[in-house]
Amino acid sequence: VSDLTVAGPLVNLRYATPADAERLFELASDPEVTRFFSWGPYKEIGEAHAYIEGLAGERDRGFRLDFVIDHSEHGVVGVTGLTELSQRDRRAVVGTWLGQRYWGSGANAASKALICALAFRGLGLERLSAYAAVDNPRSQTALGRIGFKREGTLRSWHRHGDVVHDVEIHGLLREEWEESGLSREPAEISGEPPGPWALES
Ligand SMILES: CC(C)(COP(=O)(O)OP(=O)(O)OC[C@H]1O[C@@H](n2cnc3c(N)ncnc32)[C@H](O)[C@@H]1OP(=O)(O)O)[C@@H](O)C(=O)NCCC(=O)NCCS
Repeated sequence: VSDLTVAGPLVNLRYATPADAERLFELASDPEVTRFFSWGPYKEIGEAHAYIEGLAGERDRGFRLDFVIDHSEHGVVGVTGLTELSQRDRRAVVGTWLGQRYWGSGANAASKALICALAFRGLGLERLSAYAAVDNPRSQTALGRIGFKREGTLRSWHRHGDVVHDVEIHGLLREEWEESGLSREPAEISGEPPGPWALES
């Protein structure tokens, strides 16, 4: 089975390999990047290796389908992926992080165009959700700009250590994606989705 990839004009999505560990470690050892996450910032490269080594099993279990965002000019600039797959309801959650110097570069919208093409056209999902911390207005604005709608506040949704956080949930439905600019961005999907991600039509 060939690896799933999504190619676009500015960035490509591909599975991380051990050769990406050094770069992911560099980008995600910045506390600003991981501020709203349950993990990080990375303190040692072994954490990036452990993340990468876990991905194949997580894909095969339907737990997580993560890609590095490989930029045509800058190389790997971050990670985007899907979690919380519900086969029955044909939905998943999309999450993205970029190295801080790539914020505002267009890499976010470009990577979202590709992951949305994969989700709706490649996998046959009907809905994508995205979470944003209540105190992460940058993430909320970024989601709104590309067509996600803010739907409400999920109370005590994420536990980070001992602290439980509320999150804002945003959603994009298939028909909204079809009408949005995102769906008109070129996105070439190659390879096979891992088992649980290949929904029956
Ligand atoms: C979230 C993330 C992927 C978005 O990518 P990005 O490149 O920063 O997003 P964009 O620049 O396309 O969009 C952000 C928008 O928020 C705006 N913005 C920035 N700070 C803001 C603030 N404090 N309040 C409101 N809007 C803000 C920006 O101006 C921009 O809008 P504009 O293009 O209309 O000017 C990136 O910031 C990131 O990796 N953050 C750290 C990880 C993270 O928090 N991920 C999301 C959690 S699920």
